[in-house]
Amino acid sequence: MGCVIMDGHALSERLRPQLKRHAEELARRHGCVPGLAAVLVGDQPASEQYVKNKRKAAAELGFLAEIHRVDRAEASTESLLRLMAQLNADPRIHGILLQLPLPPALDVYRLFDTIDPAKDIDGVGQASVTALYRGRSEGFLPCTPRGVAALLSYYRVPVEGARAVVIGRSDIAGKPLAFLLGGRMCNATVTWCHRHTRELKELCLGADIIAACAGADLGENFLITAEMVKPGACVIDVGFRRVAPGRFRGDVDFDRVKEVAGWLTPNPGGTGPMTVTALMQNLIDAARCRLGLGRASYPV
Ligand code: GUN
Repeated sequence: MGCVIMDGHALSERLRPQLKRHAEELARRHGCVPGLAAVLVGDQPASEQYVKNKRKAAAELGFLAEIHRVDRAEASTESLLRLMAQLNADPRIHGILLQLPLPPALDVYRLFDTIDPAKDIDGVGQASVTALYRGRSEGFLPCTPRGVAALLSYYRVPVEGARAVVIGRSDIAGKPLAFLLGGRMCNATVTWCHRHTRELKELCLGADIIAACAGADLGENFLITAEMVKPGACVIDVGFRRVAPGRFRGDVDFDRVKEVAGWLTPNPGGTGPMTVTALMQNLIDAARCRLGLGRASYPV
């Protein structure tokens, strides 16, 4: 059997009418326009592009989307805490996103924890993290894991009881994805790996699902090669890095791995568009929760 390509653009397109219906319901029945505030520090081209994609997706749904640009030289933890407090107090804003990476001098966790938990649509603050850790539903799931879960479900990848290897420890991808897959929502058995993991190849060869979220800086080489993949396994590529101006690579050697894997995300075009879609879903949920409505459901 050939490899199923897990197309994040196609799934996003399928979800779009449902997102629109929720947006229309909020506008028509409640006079509510969901508002997104994205905070962008510095001028990294990749972050600039990610934030533009998010603003475009919000605008297409008729949402308010503001980008708050902060000059790298002027960015301090204190100045950003003030901006967060201002956005927390702004009734037009339902969701706040602090685009990562931030300059290393900033206290990222103080900033995350200042975001009003009701507006933490990136799922990075204490309340959301605790909810995920405890397997409770009141927080926001970070957007990349939420998008990955949607891809796994839509493409009917067997997850319950599966052996999953997650590679990477970021707060928005590897860490929450390991918790999500291993938690009661997915019931996989997770081996959580990172740059110090020995025998990564052997661990991957034993896996039914590999989620590579390392963004490993390997030049033209890939972290996950065809020799590391069990025939028929599902391979999710979250990693993304620039190898030269305008040239990007994921963690997975797509062309060769697709000859072995049972399911595979393209990169770009897999988890990236789903991250943006999940952000819109979280924003809709934030607006609904403020109105006392339950979270939106998406029966794809
Ligand atoms: N940088 C790359 N992707 C993301 C994301 O989903 N959220 C944030 N905050 N920063 C990112």
